Amino acid sequence: MIALSDLAVPIVGAPMAGGPTTDALVVAVSRAGGLGVLATAYRTPAQTAASVSAVRAAGVERFGANVFVPDDHAEHDADLASLSAYRDLLRTRISGVEPGVIAPRGRDGYDETLDVLLDAGVPWVSFTFGLPGRDVVDRLHAGDAAVVVTVTTASDARSAVERGADVVWVQGPEAGGHRSTFDVAAEPPTVPIEDLLADVRSAVDVPLIASGGVGDGRDVRRLLDRGAAAVGVGTALLLADEAGTSEPYRAALTDPGFDETVLTRAFSGRVARGLRNRFHDDLGDHAPARFPEVNTLTAPLRRAATAVGDPHGISLWAGTGHRGARTGPAAEIVADLWRSAQQG
Ligand SMILES: Cc1cc2nc3c(=O)[nH]c(=O)nc-3n(C[C@H](O)[C@H](O)[C@H](O)COP(=O)(O)O)c2cc1C
Repeated sequence: MIALSDLAVPIVGAPMAGGPTTDALVVAVSRAGGLGVLATAYRTPAQTAASVSAVRAAGVERFGANVFVPDDHAEHDADLASLSAYRDLLRTRISGVEPGVIAPRGRDGYDETLDVLLDAGVPWVSFTFGLPGRDVVDRLHAGDAAVVVTVTTASDARSAVERGADVVWVQGPEAGGHRSTFDVAAEPPTVPIEDLLADVRSAVDVPLIASGGVGDGRDVRRLLDRGAAAVGVGTALLLADEAGTSEPYRAALTDPGFDETVLTRAFSGRVARGLRNRFHDDLGDHAPARFPEVNTLTAPLRRAATAVGDPHGISLWAGTGHRGARTGPAAEIVADLWRSAQQG
């Protein structure tokens, strides 16, 4: 089983679904001595299988994959009215662009994707938005894969370890992208990552990954000093050469006009942190807490905005350390973070 203590560099390249994580980024982070993690969300099981093969074809065996656990709260099936009202708001935003349709909530290929990861023997699998079933944990352990669960509270960390997690990924409020609350409707806690890490440390006795707001090596050092076995970095890799971050997204990350990050449900229905833009300002107060339905509704609008290079119409996920994001090869970004972490 991959142990975080075996990494030459205790940095995990956070899974970033929706484009930024590419096979090349995973390969580069793992080759740099860290751990690259594939993002399987919004991708078909076949695409995930192809990514696993591509990473291996590049000679990398030590890597992970992340999956989104589907929402199993039956109460979220009701209330189509709020989704329909949100759809009406979205219809007026870009002339000629229809929002996606309100479809019954499915499992988004979760079971099939897990089968791909299990069949391929992916050695490290992380779960976001909930716990894997006991059977899934057992099957992964039978193949000697590490089971990792991303949490935002100490009590979820306890549940994860009770379920069989070998590693807990602690995600602070500073993190870019979606917060891994187990209930889509929950408002994620605001306890800063250092304090959350301490809370989780006293609740469970497994290695911890800390993530949220890392902009430079000092942030890495601070989290390692506070007991993390490794530090997860997402935003710091968004401008890497190998990242699949879209052009308008890259431009916004380096534009001094986008200087603030906010928590918003506007794009996906789940709370996520990103650079503040007009989509959030106009819609953030109206989006129902439903995922992935809201994500599906906004998809055609986001695609249209990306096509015309409009940063105000796309999700610009970014953590509070976004000013630290650098361009260049991912290997250099990881090496620089680690070098300055060791100095500081
Ligand atoms: C663009 C983007 C996409 C993300 N997608 C995922 C994902 O697919 N799965 C996941 O567990 N976390 C996802 N996250 C959260 C990261 O895994 C990680 O917790 C976060 O990036 C850490 O904070 P930082 O961005 O400040 O480094 C995403 C973050 C970003 C910025």
